[in-house]
Amino acid sequence: MAGAPEVRIFDDAQDLAREAADLFVWLAGQAISGDGRFRVALSGGSTPKAIHAMLAGPAFASQLDWRRVEFYFGDERCVPPDHGESNYGMANATLFQPLRINPDQIFRMAGEAGDPAQTARDYEALLRARFRSPAPARPRFDLVLLGMGDDGHTASLFPGTAALAERHRLVVATQSPRGIVNRLTLTAPLINQSHAVLFLVAGASKAVATQAVLEGRNVDPGRFPARLIRPEQGRLIWFLDRAAAAELTTAKQRVVSHEE
Ligand code: 6PG
Repeated sequence: MAGAPEVRIFDDAQDLAREAADLFVWLAGQAISGDGRFRVALSGGSTPKAIHAMLAGPAFASQLDWRRVEFYFGDERCVPPDHGESNYGMANATLFQPLRINPDQIFRMAGEAGDPAQTARDYEALLRARFRSPAPARPRFDLVLLGMGDDGHTASLFPGTAALAERHRLVVATQSPRGIVNRLTLTAPLINQSHAVLFLVAGASKAVATQAVLEGRNVDPGRFPARLIRPEQGRLIWFLDRAAAAELTTAKQRVVSHEE
């Protein structure tokens, strides 16, 4: 049964990034001490860049045995890995290179391949093999990092798309209404198997969608796909800055200040 989301609100995006890095390291330590590795799916977009910089920086880089971390992706644009819009490319520049992560620990979606549907099937097969999780079981990530667009999309689960209704596949090809059209994304049923899902959402443009997703009544998840993300047994955590939390009821407006 899905638990209530844990919502924390920070003064600004920098505080959010620091606390997110701290939680990342803590979750990783738990997983590594449990079964010797930490398997995380990274998010695309721009918000994660600050968290990546924090993790690769002096405050956190030495707090983790990075050789025990396996990096996967929640979604990818169908572009080459060195393209400016590649989620892998962003993670490589902001996290993998600075931490000198061994490429053997990185499992990217081949956005450059010509057939997105086949690439989705290939990535699904990779996940099942890596997690030793044959169908109909679903792999369980230790952590899935997610962002949210101002339209309430998350990963590449966009409003009104067929991907939202997918109940069996782990990975599908889909399309975005903006930017790079062809995308690959983990599906909601897979994300909801995770031990922990951490949404990182900052900026005033996200405030309306954040309120709809966290507090909306009778809101159609087809309009705000982030509402589909409710881990069945795992933790659901939302880190927000004040601007993104501005439309939430005061009950949630407990801001984590610098002192805490
Ligand atoms: C992507 C992401 C996407 C992102 C949101 C928020 O590939 O773009 O997976 O879901 O998290 O669009 O993006 P920002 O962090 O740039 O606001």
